[in-house]
Amino acid sequence: MSEEAAQWTDAASVDEVPANDVVGMMVGGHDIALYKVDGEVFATSNICTHGDGRLCEGFLEGHEIECPLHQGKFDVRSGRATYDPAIEPVRAYPVKIEGGRVFLSLVEQ
Ligand code: FES
Repeated sequence: MSEEAAQWTDAASVDEVPANDVVGMMVGGHDIALYKVDGEVFATSNICTHGDGRLCEGFLEGHEIECPLHQGKFDVRSGRATYDPAIEPVRAYPVKIEGGRVFLSLVEQ
């Protein structure tokens, strides 16, 4: 996706995302989970694809978020499901950091 097409939306300050942890927030009508792993910020849908688990209430270990309901896991970099019963990926959102702010591209790719 080109920089122009991405249409970046200001989501949060970098400091609002806890180090090596996850936080949930609504951004432009999307329920988003923001993660910070070793200083790098990632964003996925906050809703597990297996059920109604909210990933922001899960457990982040490295680049993997564990759903609080049935312990399915996803890679926060790509949204790929990495552990049963999660099979379908969660949507991962492109992230850009500028001026201490986290911007997300919410446009479908
Ligand atoms: S709702 Fe997330 S693993 Fe079941």
